[in-house]
Amino acid sequence: MPNIVVVGAQWGDEGKGKVVDLYARDADAVVRFQGGNNAGHTLVVEGEKIILHLIPSGILHPGTVCCIGNGVVVDPGVLLDEIRGLRDRGRWPGDEQLVISPAAHVILPCHRALDLAREARAGRHQIGTTGRGIGPCYEDKASRTGIRIADLLDPGTLASRVEALLDEKNALLRHHGAEPLDPAAVIEGLLAAGERLRPFVGDVAGRVHAWTRQGSRVLLEGAQGTFLDLDHGTYPFVTSSNTTAGAACTGTGLPPRDVHGVIGITKAYVTRVGRGPFPTELTDDLGDRLRERGREFGSTTGRPRRCGWLDLVGLRTACRLSGLSGLAVTKLDVLEGLPEVRVCTRYRLDGETVDFVPPRAEDLERCEPVYEALPGWSDSIAGCRTLDDLPANARRFLDFVADATGCPVVLASVGPGREQTVEIHNPFAA
Ligand code: IMP
Repeated sequence: MPNIVVVGAQWGDEGKGKVVDLYARDADAVVRFQGGNNAGHTLVVEGEKIILHLIPSGILHPGTVCCIGNGVVVDPGVLLDEIRGLRDRGRWPGDEQLVISPAAHVILPCHRALDLAREARAGRHQIGTTGRGIGPCYEDKASRTGIRIADLLDPGTLASRVEALLDEKNALLRHHGAEPLDPAAVIEGLLAAGERLRPFVGDVAGRVHAWTRQGSRVLLEGAQGTFLDLDHGTYPFVTSSNTTAGAACTGTGLPPRDVHGVIGITKAYVTRVGRGPFPTELTDDLGDRLRERGREFGSTTGRPRRCGWLDLVGLRTACRLSGLSGLAVTKLDVLEGLPEVRVCTRYRLDGETVDFVPPRAEDLERCEPVYEALPGWSDSIAGCRTLDDLPANARRFLDFVADATGCPVVLASVGPGREQTVEIHNPFAA
């Protein structure tokens, strides 16, 4: 099956980086389709930990072309640092392996400043953003005043667009009590970054079409997760892009009929960073235990993640929204040693049973989780590589997830290393 989409099925941080890195082994290209450096994808290869924010997680495979699609928002400084970091560690596969869409929007210093200034003043309306300027950049994209990668290569256009944009943004920054920005300095910085990015800029949509025509295997990499989706998530506690599978098409130029499979990544429990409803959240010792054992601290901001039991209502909804053809269950090892493992099978809301996440965050806030307890397992599973290696109760847990969602489990991750994986079905196989 040539084109496979990978999306987060929860609130982000599900382990997409590890799974994309693994599947990239079988892919000719990996294309990131939304979000920006609010994402942090952690890869552990040969014992070395590598965190990527913008470069697709396939970059460690020589020969796999990695693209940043038009749906992504790019902070040029972060991207250049990431390229330099990989080069310094001897992990850069060659310039021809990275292609950036000229239509991707650029995160500007005013976007970062506005994101931080607004959050600082938002009080109880704070979202808990990553402060990377993601929302303000997508706002300008939608209002058609944004700067795109192509503009960085065209000094005349860039100067007039930045001046017009800063005229408005500086007024807003002053309103929020933040320092206004000097247009000349911003333009100079962007032009310098543009020159360094120039070798990477190419027609991503055109390449995706050509690969599809040739029958090449393309992996489309999402960021964040289903319930951070701008339309389908827990609005307003969401990110500013669509994180569900439909965005793989709009964010790259791939027609929907050329998507052949969608893999949803879910942890064996749930985490969330930032504010917003979270029905299965554990605020007790068990939550602390999951955070410590799962090392649940943000790879972008270092914030402690909120932790809770696996929510099958959420997972069922994620299956429906993205048409998931398979589930990859990560961090299964974090649950080992618990006498029993709970999973939320449905919610109760105003005396009614609820099987899917309600569209309003205010309603989700009022939902009471209904749990089923499954027997735990005490053996370490970090060394398991096949389903048969797993303790019976861990297999039973995976079967329960598949039954409750109607979606097969195609992979289980039992540790951070690339090799610490139980592969059940390869999505690229027919
Ligand atoms: P923003 O994307 O920085 O605007 O943040 C909006 C919300 O999405 C906040 O709750 C963030 O914590 C959350 N968020 C954004 N990116 C990620 C991610 O990659 N993992 C987990 N949460 C994220």
